[in-house]
Amino acid sequence: MNHDTLKQAVARAAVDHLVPGAVVGVGSGSTVGFFIAELGRIRDRVAGAVSSSEKSSELLRAQGIRVLTIDEAGPIPVYVDGADEIDPGLRMIKGGGGALTREKIVAAAADRFVCIVDASKQVPVLGRFPLPLEVIPMAQGLVARWFAQMGGDARPRAGYLTDNGNPILDVHGLRIDDPVGLETELNQWPGVVTVGLFARRGADLVLVADPAGVRTQTR
Ligand code: 5RP
Repeated sequence: MNHDTLKQAVARAAVDHLVPGAVVGVGSGSTVGFFIAELGRIRDRVAGAVSSSEKSSELLRAQGIRVLTIDEAGPIPVYVDGADEIDPGLRMIKGGGGALTREKIVAAAADRFVCIVDASKQVPVLGRFPLPLEVIPMAQGLVARWFAQMGGDARPRAGYLTDNGNPILDVHGLRIDDPVGLETELNQWPGVVTVGLFARRGADLVLVADPAGVRTQTR
C-alpha cells in the first residue's frame, strides 16, 4: 500500500470528526490535499474554511469552499492538519511544507486539533525530522549560531520563502526530549517568528493510517 493510499484513507476518516454546518480550520501539505478533496464532496455541510496557506486556499476555492479569515469565521470547532512527526504525547514537528506560522495561528483559534498522518510519522522521540523555524531575515545567521552552540545544525531552506515572506531554517541533529521546554525556550529567541514544534498546544486527537486501517489515538 503506498503513502498516497494511506493519506487518502486518513483524510476520509477525518470527515467523521467535523461538526456539520460549521467552519473548519484547514492545514497544509499533501495529506491535507486529500482532506480538501474530501471536503469538496461534502461542501454543502461546510460553512467555510480558515486556511493555513496560500496553497490550501487555492485548493479549497477549487473545491467550491469559501475561504474565511479568522475574524470572519467566528468559532472554529475543528482544525485538521498533518504532521512531519508525532510522538505518543501527540506533540508534533510541523513545517516541512513551510506553513508552520499560519498553521499555529489557525490551530490556536480552533477548539480541537485533529492530526491526520500515516504510520510513518509516528516516532517515540521527536527530532529525527529536521526542526523548521520561520525567522526574520536579519536574524538568520545569529539564530543558526545559537543552534550550533547547542549541537544543532541549522540550514537555510534553499530558494524558499514562506507565505509571510520569511526564510526557514531546518535544524538537524536535535534530540527533543522535552518538546514543551524547547518550544518555550525557542519562542523567546529574538528573530524567531515561529518554531515548528507543536507541543504546548499539541493535537487533541490523531488519526493514523496503516495498511490495517485507520486508528484513533487521544491524549
Ligand atoms: C506543512 C506541514 C505539514 O502538515 C507536514 O509537512 C506534513 O505534510 P505531508 O502531509 O505532505 O506529509 O506541517 O507546513
